[in-house]
Amino acid sequence: MSYQLLKGKRGIITGALDENSIAWKVAQKAHEQGAVFTLTNAPIAMRMGEINKLADQTNSKIIPADATVIEDIEKLYTESIQHLGGKIDFVLHSIGMSVNIRKNIPYTQLNYDFFNKGIDVSALSFHKLLAVAHKLDAINEWGSVVALSYIAAQRTYPFYTDMADIKAMLESIARTFGYHYGKEKKVRINTVSQSPTKTTAGGGIKGFGEFFDFADKQSPLGNASADDCANYCISLFSDLTRMVTMQNLYHDGGYSSTGVSSEQLL
Ligand SMILES: NC(=O)c1ccc[n+]([C@@H]2O[C@H](COP(=O)([O-])OP(=O)(O)OC[C@H]3O[C@@H](n4cnc5c(N)ncnc54)[C@H](O)[C@@H]3O)[C@@H](O)[C@H]2O)c1
Repeated sequence: MSYQLLKGKRGIITGALDENSIAWKVAQKAHEQGAVFTLTNAPIAMRMGEINKLADQTNSKIIPADATVIEDIEKLYTESIQHLGGKIDFVLHSIGMSVNIRKNIPYTQLNYDFFNKGIDVSALSFHKLLAVAHKLDAINEWGSVVALSYIAAQRTYPFYTDMADIKAMLESIARTFGYHYGKEKKVRINTVSQSPTKTTAGGGIKGFGEFFDFADKQSPLGNASADDCANYCISLFSDLTRMVTMQNLYHDGGYSSTGVSSEQLL
């Protein structure tokens, strides 16, 4: 349902790879709620071509950018501002990748080149997106930036290996940058800690299917879907959450507060 919550707002949405991507749903809902935005992804991900469908559906321009490359990010903001006709009101960081996970390397034997790559792609890219926006003064006052995280940043999930440490860094960047950007420009920065979700990134994790079912039983409301996650992100981009910043916000059907559910004991 459209409440036109984002009417008049301009945004940048990263990470829509295919229709399962959380970012894909965020783009659809942002469009429904009256926002205009650009879409971006790593040039290599563009080759799949799926993102063109989303761009057509939402009347958005695609600006390829590798989120680890400062020059690409500068171009992303400059072209977005030019195309959308003004400074940016919201940014979604929906980027995650671990080569160690892809290659099934256990946590105790991590390859450090892969670890560095994972940090750069999945956490430093968030700092870079913020630092470039800050330098170019690309985000309006009361603008809102959201990145997606996972509870392995707080508690141990052995299969999540190096991404657990990387998500902890991502959440810390939200707090620290949130302080500075909030003080100077009233820009809000939060992370949303989402339930396991069946996407390309999620499905790449060993044992994901079993764990998805475990989390679903553990959560009083069940796992939160990508659609629900998108709704939550929209609320964070809207003016209804103006005073929320520097938070890691659980969006997980109650999973994070549940010790054990009765279903798990059966
Ligand atoms: N799926 C889950 O279970 C789950 C749970 C909690 C949090 N998350 C987080 O949600 C976010 C989105 O993931 P998703 O599940 O929608 O999967 P996804 O695979 O659809 O999205 C990941 C995106 O990151 C992009 N990307 C990778 N390297 C990049 C680079 N160098 N520059 C720019 N973009 C790059 C990919 O092209 C892809 O679009 C990630 O941060 C992920 O960790 C996912």
